[in-house]
Amino acid sequence: MAADGERDGPMITFLPVGAPAVVACNRGRVRGHRPMGGHGGASRTAVLVCQGRAVAHGRIAVDRFDDPTAMMFLRADERGVVEWVRGGVPPRGWGARLEFEMVRACGEVMVPRTVAIDEALREAVGGADGDREVRRAEQLVVLGAGLDGRPWRMPELAGVAVFEVDHPASQRDKLDRLGDADRLGDAGPPGTAPRFAPVDFSRDDLDAALTSVGHRPTVPTVWIWEGVVPYLTRGQVAATTRVVAGRSTPGSRLIVHYHAPALSALLGRLAGRVLTIVSRRPDPMAREPNRSAWTPAAMRRMLAAHGFTVRRDDDLLTLARRLAVPVRHRQSLRNGHVVVADLLVADFDTV
Ligand SMILES: C[S@@+](CC[C@H](N)C(=O)[O-])C[C@H]1O[C@@H](n2cnc3c(N)ncnc32)[C@H](O)[C@@H]1O
Repeated sequence: MAADGERDGPMITFLPVGAPAVVACNRGRVRGHRPMGGHGGASRTAVLVCQGRAVAHGRIAVDRFDDPTAMMFLRADERGVVEWVRGGVPPRGWGARLEFEMVRACGEVMVPRTVAIDEALREAVGGADGDREVRRAEQLVVLGAGLDGRPWRMPELAGVAVFEVDHPASQRDKLDRLGDADRLGDAGPPGTAPRFAPVDFSRDDLDAALTSVGHRPTVPTVWIWEGVVPYLTRGQVAATTRVVAGRSTPGSRLIVHYHAPALSALLGRLAGRVLTIVSRRPDPMAREPNRSAWTPAAMRRMLAAHGFTVRRDDDLLTLARRLAVPVRHRQSLRNGHVVVADLLVADFDTV
């Protein structure tokens, strides 16, 4: 799929479908793709949100939020700040304090976002939406998966075929982490291991990549697109949704986390940029700029244009209040949304 960018020849070789989902590509930075700020050009924000989940695990909304995989995905140098935040003692020095605050704030934001997505996912794979029975999704595709640990932490996915799609450099980094010291070896995924498809949404062919790893368009799929939309242009978001819709049969569900436009978010990012420059700390957002924000109405229209009906769209502040978790970052919570949209056809809608 080429949205705004031009299409290149494949940089990556897939092993045959059915083989463990592995990708053969260069170690280190993936050539030909726009590098992000982390290891080998991988996403740095994927690490930040993983740190946020590690901070929240066992401390915030303990009866509803749980992510024991987050800490396991982090490298030793990324765990230090998590331990500080969990200990509640801010470090000395500007730069360290800035990182501390960023990770602490991220922990707060990740809880309502994760809980809302987990619940929508459970409904889809459990074949229920509230009191309604719906077709059960038998496949899960995580778009821009980063260090998402759902396949390893959710027993509900035991009978579900899971596919992880991500930017090639970020996916390479995750596979390295999975391999490193076999951190997740003991836990293991409850079902079959996810299959991995490296895709840059700005230039690669998502449709072909999913076919090559065995995704079946005739079987209901639940799609999770969490924390990725802001990094894509509107054209890339629409083009990706077109492929998702084309590979979705009735009973499929698309769960999108996106940001609403807000001046405060822009000013906050600018302030953060200045602080990271002054304190000489790496800015996790420097190589992952925000490219699109959507009003709920614009998101609903875009989804409807591709056949998806919005079931619910909540901002994270509302979700956080429902969970009765402490709210310190009202504005950034208010800007984040989780929308749950289904592909309906009257005859298929109920069983
Ligand atoms: C903030 S992280 C979110 C990761 C994960 N979904 C989560 O919530 O933990 C952003 C993710 O978007 C991915 N991403 C950003 N731009 C992308 C692109 N053009 N193509 C594919 N993935 C992209 C990054 O690789 C990264 O995994």
